[in-house]
Amino acid sequence: MKGVILAGGNATRLRPLTWVTNKHLLPIYNKPMIFYPLESMVRAGIKDVLIITGPNHSGSFINLLKSGKDFNLRLSYEIQEDAAGIAQAIGIARDFADSGKMLVILGDNIFIQPLKENVDEFEKRQKGAVVYGKHMATVSKQYGVIEVRDGKVVSIEEKPQKPKSDIGQTGIYMYDNRVFDFIDDLKPSARGELEVTDLNNYYVEEGTMICKILKGWWVDAGTSFDELLRANLLVAEEIKKEKK
Ligand code: G1P
Repeated sequence: MKGVILAGGNATRLRPLTWVTNKHLLPIYNKPMIFYPLESMVRAGIKDVLIITGPNHSGSFINLLKSGKDFNLRLSYEIQEDAAGIAQAIGIARDFADSGKMLVILGDNIFIQPLKENVDEFEKRQKGAVVYGKHMATVSKQYGVIEVRDGKVVSIEEKPQKPKSDIGQTGIYMYDNRVFDFIDDLKPSARGELEVTDLNNYYVEEGTMICKILKGWWVDAGTSFDELLRANLLVAEEIKKEKK
């Protein structure tokens, strides 16, 4: 399976840190943010990774990560010209995916759980998708909300007023190759973007979406200064544990 990391966007929530750089290049303790999803790909057993970023700082990603040899990865790069949504960005991976399945990670999602077992399991599935969820105390304000009944995903709602569960949608997904047909069919949302939630709902309606609850800590480091700080502290803690 191939991997796709989405590292575009304007990161307005992190200004002024992001006026002259891309948020995925900001430091998280001792490494740039983008290293963490890359290392998650490595731990998942993925060898080929496409990084999709915006036009402004794409050169910095190539300067930093080069061919990917240092990570034992083969890296490719694509440009998302306008920040037109997560689903639109995933659509850019069509040629790269080459009719295969994909693991997609949003570049600011930092987490501890290795995905290898789930990736291997998904490889064997005939069709469908996987969304990673996380139980959250305040789920509705900034996340999609996943409703699961008897182990089946019955709905995913984007930032609902009245959440139907406490399971927030993280930025980690697996898709079969039909994802590109579904993206072609998507219409922009009220905020003018092709939404990952609308995309995921194609699979929900078909009954082929599986929700996995992510184990251990997970941070969406790009959403606020507090989350950025939390990511730094969690990584620092992890490094201290390893040293003991
Ligand atoms: C996006 C998705 C949302 C998801 C979140 C995870 O939100 O639309 O469903 O929970 O990523 O990071 P955005 O950050 O684009 O507002």
